[in-house]
Amino acid sequence: MSIDVAAVRSHFPALQGGAAHFDGPGGTQVPTPVADAVHAALVAPMANRGSTTQAERNADDVVLAARQAVADLVGGRPGGVVFGRSATVLTYDLARTLSAGWGPGDEVVVTRLDHDANVRPWVQAAERAGATVRWAGFDPATGELTAADVAAVVTDATRLVAVTGASNLIGTRPPLPEIAGVAHAAGALLHVDGVHLTAHAPVDLAELGCDTFTCSPYKFLGPHCGALVADPEFLATLHPDKLLPSTDAVPERFELGTLPYELLAGTTAAVDFLAGLGAGATRRERLRTGMAALEEHEDALRASLEASLAALPGVTLWSRAARRTPTLLVTFEGRDAADAYRFLAARGVNAPAGSFYALECSRWLGLGDTGGLRIGLAPYSDSGDVDRLLEALRAFLA
Ligand SMILES: Cc1ncc(COP(=O)(O)O)c(C=O)c1O
Repeated sequence: MSIDVAAVRSHFPALQGGAAHFDGPGGTQVPTPVADAVHAALVAPMANRGSTTQAERNADDVVLAARQAVADLVGGRPGGVVFGRSATVLTYDLARTLSAGWGPGDEVVVTRLDHDANVRPWVQAAERAGATVRWAGFDPATGELTAADVAAVVTDATRLVAVTGASNLIGTRPPLPEIAGVAHAAGALLHVDGVHLTAHAPVDLAELGCDTFTCSPYKFLGPHCGALVADPEFLATLHPDKLLPSTDAVPERFELGTLPYELLAGTTAAVDFLAGLGAGATRRERLRTGMAALEEHEDALRASLEASLAALPGVTLWSRAARRTPTLLVTFEGRDAADAYRFLAARGVNAPAGSFYALECSRWLGLGDTGGLRIGLAPYSDSGDVDRLLEALRAFLA
């Protein structure tokens, strides 16, 4: 399969604004079917979930459809899909619930590669429980986080390992199945932050081997909400804080308050849009083939962009891992990345500068809290965008 980028682009009204968008890792642009689905949910009769009125059934249908869609996207089960405001909130909620069982002598492993959303909730929960935090470093020269890096800090006391599926700053994709092996051999849980990964590659939770996984639809063409995916049987063993009158069923007991039905309708539409990039008898199969085709498209574009970046004077590329997403972090000798960001923006090229909440990663690379210029490819990125970026960068460096 290959991606017809022109056809993909035709579905994105925002692209008519004229900018070349390399800001997808912060949140992608949205195709028309997603906006239409949000609108349709908002104007349809809608009430709290139930089975008596049409409005109640509409809400129920929207939620069940979105659980199935996210399950199809990541190879999970719909009964294990929890929706929330964001991956950050869901991770804090999960950390609060899990850490109720932690105490002094227990250990939690976080990494220097991760976005702070998969660091601070665990660090703060561990501190509150009196548990010890251990840090897995990575090789700044290669950008690789290996299973050995994680194994070096895992002990028999480790209760949980939190690691990213892919770095939102430098794209590195750690070897999750191997890391799952390390965590599970020690009797620990593995939580994977899949927010960046899910936008760029086929995901199969069984292959990855994690116990809990987060993703955020607004990173993969959908609306602003988050999802946590786990085995429903595992969720059934957890008892989050919840209101007394709200249901104790799984996964609902993890969803605090009323769900954003319109955003869930948009989430289903985003998954359907991605499935539309592939082929196969089931949506899961279309997603696997579609995301594989997308990965190939983005990898090819990344390779040509990288070759051109390497030819620019004074540019350092920090994205170096053998296996990674098309997310490039660059810095400029003697020039601020923030200046490049503004220079590009004035020319209709959107590539922001910063550390993008991957604070530990930026510091570990020696880039302090400043980070660099992040160039992220998305399903709608094309060679025209790349040409515009390179032209603007050459002008910046001239
Ligand atoms: C890798 C990664 N993890 C977590 C998050 C936080 O996601 P959310 O905004 O849904 O809380 C982001 C957002 O940029 C991210 O890139």
